[in-house]
Amino acid sequence: MVILRVSESTLDDVFLRLQSHEGYFDGFEIEVETLKHPEREDWESISRRTQGFRILSLPRALMSEAEPVIDFYRTLLKRRLFDMVRIPYEEYKPRGVHETLEKVAHSYDVGVIRSISIRNFSAYPFPFAQDFVKERDVLHLTLNPSGWKELGPIVERVILDRTVETWGMRRSFAVEGPYGYPFQVLSSHLGSYFTFTSPQSKGPLVDPITLKTVYRYTSLTPHTALFGIIGNPVLHSRSPHLHNRGYDALGIDAVYVPFPVDDLEPFFSIAPKLPLRGLSVTIPHKESVLKYCDWCEDSVLAVGACNTLVFSEKSIKGYNTDVEGFLVPLNRVFPRVTGKKALVIGAGGAARSIVYGLAREGARVLILNRTVAKAESLAAEMGKTLSLSTGTITTGPLDREGASRVEQFQPDLVVQTTSCGMHPYEEEDPFPDLFFKGQEVVYDLVYAPRETRFLKRAKAAGCTVIYGDAMLIHQAFRQFLLFTGKEYPRQLIDGI
Ligand code: ATR
Repeated sequence: MVILRVSESTLDDVFLRLQSHEGYFDGFEIEVETLKHPEREDWESISRRTQGFRILSLPRALMSEAEPVIDFYRTLLKRRLFDMVRIPYEEYKPRGVHETLEKVAHSYDVGVIRSISIRNFSAYPFPFAQDFVKERDVLHLTLNPSGWKELGPIVERVILDRTVETWGMRRSFAVEGPYGYPFQVLSSHLGSYFTFTSPQSKGPLVDPITLKTVYRYTSLTPHTALFGIIGNPVLHSRSPHLHNRGYDALGIDAVYVPFPVDDLEPFFSIAPKLPLRGLSVTIPHKESVLKYCDWCEDSVLAVGACNTLVFSEKSIKGYNTDVEGFLVPLNRVFPRVTGKKALVIGAGGAARSIVYGLAREGARVLILNRTVAKAESLAAEMGKTLSLSTGTITTGPLDREGASRVEQFQPDLVVQTTSCGMHPYEEEDPFPDLFFKGQEVVYDLVYAPRETRFLKRAKAAGCTVIYGDAMLIHQAFRQFLLFTGKEYPRQLIDGI
């Protein structure tokens, strides 16, 4: 059941918020502590102005509330305006005011959500909880992990542990913060009775519109296959939109979710248990995931980076779809790369896949980098890996001297692999000394913005250009094929 949690200063604002999310939630929760004058509000208007499941959420510091305030909550419960009341606990034993309010709720047919927010879950599932949770009530856990070291045990001991349900009890959880995001999206899939959401751009939880439109929440079942992307940060990634749209168009029962991961060890001890079927891997984990692979394709070993993992019961297989993602758009312009001369600007992580792909396909490569030593070691490494003859890959600096090397080299292709020109560095040009003749094809891996300053300059000189988003899309197409065994429905993406 999707619940929209609203924290506003008046009930009128609550209604406005509900209106703007209409059709995206099954029920809502009003946080009484954010209302400026709760005692002056027209509470009866809730029955007239809202529909769906109604939850009243009481303040966290319940123990320190004055008696008249507690009395006010009591009256609210007696008016039967809500289906449930959420009572927050610091510990998991009812005492004093909690007990009183629970009794009132139960005698007026209002269910109780016992909301527990504690850091140490080693005692979970709290055997004595059996004594206090009635059939209508829900045991709710609020978790806010600071990273995967904390989240790993929470997933193992709390989220994947279904003991509470075997007691005939309903349980729900809300994992707040960036690390909790995938578990918010997957909460019902993982057995949470409620899926708590926040209004759009008001955090700390996923909003219900994204849940429905991006993650197709209503069609998730416990059998839905899980895919995702790991990185840090990763919540801005467009990959979930792309993959989920593909599953939807082909009627595949799968979902793709971003996992912000700061520590791979606890993540990989949980991943097969979720169970995850496939993962895209992005910065900063492309190199460090290699040690979790039982098998890797050649390009992964050659490049030293892996951006795709496919899980089976027995193994994790690693692929590098960046190489193909780069080559496919290039092959539209040059069906054969063999014998072409390619200038590569930059010698960092991104350049590795590019230099490998170009040299493997038979191109001659000139790598220019600000730090020449890095270009030299990349050239030496790829030369060795691909057993290239001397002179196939040459190197130089990214300055006037480099520009005169380019004059002699006369490249057919220029590939820009640095982060220059990428948002928020739109004004940067990695190689102002480079003069475009107009015959070269110029490929910039930066995709935000789509047209960099460097590409604009190339276009103005008459060059054919290839945008970075083409590589991004094509690497994802191969991932989709590896994950699902099906070709991505390309008609969903126009003009790339
Ligand atoms: P990535 O994985 O995105 O390639 P990286 O491994 O840090 O990131 O590599 C960044 C590349 O961009 C390097 O080639 C870097 O040059 P240096 O090796 O000299 O550091 C290059 N780069 C970054 N900022 C640059 C700038 N302002 N001008 C020129 N090159 C730049």
